[in-house]
Amino acid sequence: MTRVVYVNGQYLPYGQAGVHVEDRGFQFADSIYEVCEVDQGRLVDETRHLERLERSLGELRIPMPMSRRALGHVLRETVKRNRVQTGLVYLQISRGAAPRDFPFPTGDIAPTIVCLARRVDGAKRAARAAAGIAVKTMPDIRWGRCDIKTVMLLPAVLAKEAAAADGAQEAWLVDSEGFITEGASSNAWIVDASGTLITRPTGNAILPGVTRRSLFDLLMGEKIPFTERPFRVEEAFSAREAFITSASGTVMPVVAIDGRPIGNGHPGELTRRLRSNFHQAVEFSR
Ligand code: PDD
Repeated sequence: MTRVVYVNGQYLPYGQAGVHVEDRGFQFADSIYEVCEVDQGRLVDETRHLERLERSLGELRIPMPMSRRALGHVLRETVKRNRVQTGLVYLQISRGAAPRDFPFPTGDIAPTIVCLARRVDGAKRAARAAAGIAVKTMPDIRWGRCDIKTVMLLPAVLAKEAAAADGAQEAWLVDSEGFITEGASSNAWIVDASGTLITRPTGNAILPGVTRRSLFDLLMGEKIPFTERPFRVEEAFSAREAFITSASGTVMPVVAIDGRPIGNGHPGELTRRLRSNFHQAVEFSR
């Protein structure tokens, strides 16, 4: 089936969809995005994703191109038109197209909006979760505003490529003081010997993950202790369990860091429970 892509008000066949060569997203990464999980044809945590999208735009002073409600409609319509049951929907908004010049263009330029939806093989993802993933630590060479979800993803691309070359599925980025910031495209968590979950506090160094936030709700509901504090690579090596959170993987067990097994080298019990209960804590919309 031909995939349909939303571009600036039109739903176009995948092969015909495109944006201007002088789009500022292309030339300067002057662009933000969101990725939402699609589960049984429903959007997961639409409200939180659109809140973060509006914040990202605000931080870059890109005007909201349409209301949150209208953007939500684009997300859901793109999912429907592509008949995605299990997968992802991706929405990107750039400042727009203008002759290449660093400062913001003067005058009215329309932001570029692109939305596409993609199926994910649920069985494959479940198999990956059952086995758990390996991560590789890499220096965090990103900029000082990782809280904004921009498409400036080259450090993440390079870190993931290095991880893949080592047989790992994610990179954990390490700041100049030896603390883990987050995954290249996920938030990082460990479980200590007492069963307390630890994840880095939000701030400029990490993306405030929607999955992370919804997991807090689940933890509070189930009275599972957690703390937001930075943790070092050495502490992660000796963690009882580890996992990552993201829209694309929800709660994904980590079983090895830099080749060292975490816990008994299999997905942790608490992690597996959080993965299976995660959808109890989210908002669904269609
Ligand atoms: N990545 N940290 C980074 C750097 C991310 O890129 C992501 C998401 C997360 C997790 O955020 P959320 O729970 O809202 O998905 C944390 C998306 C999935 C991606 O780039 O594909």
